[in-house]
Amino acid sequence: ANTIGITLTINGESRSLQVAPWTTLLDLLREDLDLTGTKKGCDHGQCGACTVLVNGTRINSCLTLAVMKDGASITTVEGLAGIEGLHPLQAAFVEHDAFQCGYCTPGQLCSAVGMLSEGHAHSRDEIREAMSGNICRCGAYTNIVDAIEDVMH
Ligand code: FES
Repeated sequence: ANTIGITLTINGESRSLQVAPWTTLLDLLREDLDLTGTKKGCDHGQCGACTVLVNGTRINSCLTLAVMKDGASITTVEGLAGIEGLHPLQAAFVEHDAFQCGYCTPGQLCSAVGMLSEGHAHSRDEIREAMSGNICRCGAYTNIVDAIEDVMH
């Protein structure tokens, strides 16, 4: 088959992979690597369910071809928790009931981690704006902002 060899570091583990040139990072994660925590909502950049971190920057993995990220370090929701337990944002999401159905949560979490490292959101309005690429159909936005604010303080 017509595949290209790439190397990705995924949640800290280096992986050599053969991918078709048209395979999205989202499909590579979910279908080839069985990392199904990252969700496919719209598959065209509208919902944020597929958000992962690439070299620490949040991106929509459905809009990203895997081959374009050769050599990059990818963090998915599966990689957020550490040996000491949940990532502080995960713990805050639990504490603040920042999800209902949970489908958007992996994307919300990865997006929030990226947003916090960008460092430009300081008020609730700025957090909402910075998180506006992540849709929650259940409308848990108030609790999501509560959780993020909790980690910031
Ligand atoms: Fe990628 Fe919706 S699945 S933005």
